[in-house]
Amino acid sequence: MSGAEFDRHAVNYDGGLDNPIKRLLGDTADQFIAVKARWLLRREPGLRAGNPKEGSLRLLDYGCGAGDLMRVLAELGARASFTGCDVSDGMLAEADKRWPRRLGPSPALAAQDGARTPFADRQFDVATISAVLHHVPVAERPAVYAELGRVLRPGGRLYVFEHNPRNPLVRHVVARTPIDENAILLDAREVQDGLLGSGRYELETDYLMFMPPAIAWLRFVDRALAWLPLGAQYVVAASKPA
Ligand SMILES: C[S@@+](CC[C@H](N)C(=O)[O-])C[C@H]1O[C@@H](n2cnc3c(N)ncnc32)[C@H](O)[C@@H]1O
Repeated sequence: MSGAEFDRHAVNYDGGLDNPIKRLLGDTADQFIAVKARWLLRREPGLRAGNPKEGSLRLLDYGCGAGDLMRVLAELGARASFTGCDVSDGMLAEADKRWPRRLGPSPALAAQDGARTPFADRQFDVATISAVLHHVPVAERPAVYAELGRVLRPGGRLYVFEHNPRNPLVRHVVARTPIDENAILLDAREVQDGLLGSGRYELETDYLMFMPPAIAWLRFVDRALAWLPLGAQYVVAASKPA
């Protein structure tokens, strides 16, 4: 596992928005990230500012890249103790640089040694891993699942967001996007099996992004279709027994 691949993309990283089809569906990379962030805010009420538990959740974004998921969460009102880690020093430098100071101090950021992170066992309440696994060689994915399980506390929740290879438009876009040149897509079943091979979890899967993220009034369609395995993205929600 090497960070060098994303070091090359770091300075100009924009979540693959250089793909013309992706640009037709959303004006900014943040619109795509916001679909995941809004889903997380619904799923984890403790993230919402104003909640009595405000700021108390310790959230790790594994493979955080330029920090976009944490930043968009914070911009949508999430409050948490954010930590990001990545194999790419270049992406971590971007995460620090791109964090708006109006959102407070930037997240704690840490370099990974392959799948391994420097965090203590059971350190986090919530962990996210978004658009990362398809960049991890298949043989190395079990080590990533194991590491996520190690740093998550009993009763903690893990959210795996991925591109859905069952959606033909996703396969078309990924095959033509420079940051995805080495991507090996995985479906929700593979994530479920991988997680269950690494620990005991309660699993649920939602499908996301049936409608273009740019069209806000169509969001109700996405929510109604979350059961249908054809959305452009999916999220496997894994709860670790207390
Ligand atoms: C497409 S970017 C996604 C970044 C971020 N998670 C997001 O949703 O915006 C993929 C990220 O995964 C990181 N990555 C690739 N292989 C990794 C691995 N084995 N462990 C952790 N991060 C990895 C890359 O360095 C890159 O920052």
